[in-house]
Formats: sequence, structure tokens, C-alpha cells
Amino acid sequence: MRFLWLVLLPGLAQAAVPDGRMIALHGNDQGALPCAACHGVNGGGNAAIGAPALAGLPAPVIVAALSRFAHGQGGNAMMQGIAHALSPDEMQAVAAYFSGLKAPGA
Ligand code: HEC
Repeated sequence: MRFLWLVLLPGLAQAAVPDGRMIALHGNDQGALPCAACHGVNGGGNAAIGAPALAGLPAPVIVAALSRFAHGQGGNAMMQGIAHALSPDEMQAVAAYFSGLKAPGA
């Protein structure tokens, strides 16, 4: 039986710690669209569609915005739906990822 745990545990550990970069580039399996599609692969934003830059923002600022959107406050319908599809852990992970990217023009 013990060998079974050796096979299963790494998979569980991965599910427990979301990968912010994966979410940014590929979204999640709950319907969150890839952030990069609108906010840019480098997080620099896209003025043409009104998506602000996320790169270099403090992670708590990003998390706070996502939590507000998830509760239907602020943002647009698209962002609200995406935020709603993220778990709190996923919000933290994706916020940490964008926060760690170089701010545009910096
Ligand atoms: C379909 C395009 C689209 C996708 C995909 C998208 N966003 Fe957005 N996002 C926007 C737009 C447009 C705004 C501006 C909304 C507004 O202020 O009305 C925004 C706003 C935000 C803000 C607020 C930033 C600020 O400074 O006010 C955050 C944080 C954010 N998005 C994070 C994310 C994350 C994280 C993801 C991926 C999980 C994501 N977005 C995916 C279009 C998108």
C-alpha cells in the first residue's frame, strides 16, 4: 500500500498550491480565462480594450481588486466572472506572479 502514497502525494501537493504563471497564461479549469489574453503576457496591459497593467502591482492590491470583482463590486462583467472562477489560493498565486513581473517602463 505504501507505494500508492508515493504516487498520489505529489499530485495532491500540486493541486494544493496553484501555479500563478499557469493561471496567467492558461486560466483555470473553472472557467477563468487566461489573464494574459487581455492584460498581456508581460502584464503590461492593453489600452485598446481598457485592460490595465498588472505587472509590478503589489500582490495585495491585485488580490483586493479580484475579491471585490468576485463579489460583483467594480470592474466589468467579464472581470467579475473571471474573479468569481478563481479560488482564494488562485487569486494569491496569480497576484504574486504579476506582482513579480517588471512594471511596464520600469
Ligand atoms: C477578457 C479580458 C480580460 C481577462 C481575460 C482578464 N482581465 Fe482583468 N481586467 C480586464 C479589464 C477590461 C479590466 C478593467 C475593468 C474596469 O476597471 O472596468 C480588468 C481589470 C483587472 C484588475 C484591476 C486592475 C486595476 O488596477 O484596477 C485586476 C487586478 C485584474 N483585471 C486581474 C486579472 C486577472 C488576475 C486575470 C486572470 C485570472 C484577468 N484579470 C483576466 C480584462 C480582462
